[in-house]
Amino acid sequence: MPQARAQGELEPFWMPFSPNKEFKKEPRLITRARGMYLFAPDGRALIDASAGLFCVAAGHCRGEIAQAVARQLDTLDYAGAFLRAHPKAFELAARVAQYTPPPINRVFFVNSGSEAIDTAMKMALLYHRVRGQPQRQIFISRERAYHGVNLGGTALGGMVNNRRAFGTGLPAVYHMRHTNLPENRMVKGQPEHGAELADDLQRFCQLYGGENIAAVFVEPTAGSCGCLPPPKGYLDRLRKICDDNDILLVFDEVICGWGRMGANFGAQAFGVIPDLMTMAKALTNGAQPMGAVAARQTIYDAITDAGPERGVEFFHGYTYSAHPAACAAALATLDIFDRERLVERARTLSPYFVDSVHSLADLPCVTDIRSIGMLAAVELHPHGAPGARGHEVQKRLYDAGLHLKNTGESLILAPPLVAERNHVDEIVGKLREVLAAI
Ligand SMILES: Cc1ncc(COP(=O)(O)O)c(C=O)c1O
Repeated sequence: MPQARAQGELEPFWMPFSPNKEFKKEPRLITRARGMYLFAPDGRALIDASAGLFCVAAGHCRGEIAQAVARQLDTLDYAGAFLRAHPKAFELAARVAQYTPPPINRVFFVNSGSEAIDTAMKMALLYHRVRGQPQRQIFISRERAYHGVNLGGTALGGMVNNRRAFGTGLPAVYHMRHTNLPENRMVKGQPEHGAELADDLQRFCQLYGGENIAAVFVEPTAGSCGCLPPPKGYLDRLRKICDDNDILLVFDEVICGWGRMGANFGAQAFGVIPDLMTMAKALTNGAQPMGAVAARQTIYDAITDAGPERGVEFFHGYTYSAHPAACAAALATLDIFDRERLVERARTLSPYFVDSVHSLADLPCVTDIRSIGMLAAVELHPHGAPGARGHEVQKRLYDAGLHLKNTGESLILAPPLVAERNHVDEIVGKLREVLAAI
């Protein structure tokens, strides 16, 4: 049960993406974590079915990461991100490039997925400009997409609650239709139907002029809106239309990246290589804030070669870009990825995970289940206002000892990649128990 708190103690913290008033009346706090589990203040364990927020691929509180960060802070806490650099930034870029698909091998560090998205948008604009095509100002995205909360990402986003309060946003962003078709209900993995929805991009090329479009942003599998794997052939079709029109294809790999799809990135899982990739979250196992944009070398070369001999080529960066502590956390995380073969582990566990989650299909409250790799969503029949049932259920799940992220009526499952079958059983068992009672 939620712990009682002294009145007012919780008030000053303005919580993100949370109903502040409700939470502060009945807080559901987490004070400790270890491995597959989070712990409430009363010591109760909650199995972590969403890897925090898709971050903690290697499990919670990994000693190697904590020690690497502590050592780094004791050696070089901060140097200044511009005109100065420290060795771990170069080392990390090279390590990341071992996981990205060739020819994506240039890495720009930021502090979050949202920053990665806005950075990728600027890279796309500058890339076209230096190639003599500054008219390419239009961005294409998709309904039911989540690309973070900065102004660029908000404009690209395709979830109404994240957009409706913030006015018109960027003027030239158009959204393709989402791929969540009724005929794809309860499908495991990539659905058969919907590749033709990629032709929305072709229509935009005809309507706005393909020569005016800078980039197309898609999550290989839409994550935050409730696991929408791409229909078979869909991403290939987007790639072809982008190639035909010289448009950059950007994969937002913030959730899909680092093993979640059973391959290094969604790009490798689906066999389609984008021009830019954004990533964050599992890059540091959630232990430090960090994101990155990985670019094809041709994009880096075009921008860098166009700059003056001794001048800045890309007027962009953050005070904490490639922060030493974040780099240390990421390097220690990638050591774990290498040593424990987390990507392979995800690929191996995936069929068991997918089958187990789909076993919930018989529950009357479940309207759809979608899944791929180590990502799945159980969608509930709405009851009351949109999202009300999903919200209520995530609270009951906390009380029953399970943490997950819900978006509206979708309960999103993305356990740490170190999960074993018994953890999957525990997650699915708790879900069944709670869902059977609503
Ligand atoms: C696909 C995708 N892009 C971007 C973001 C934004 O990342 P952040 O919350 O680190 O800014 C998220 C966060 O969930 C995401 O899922």
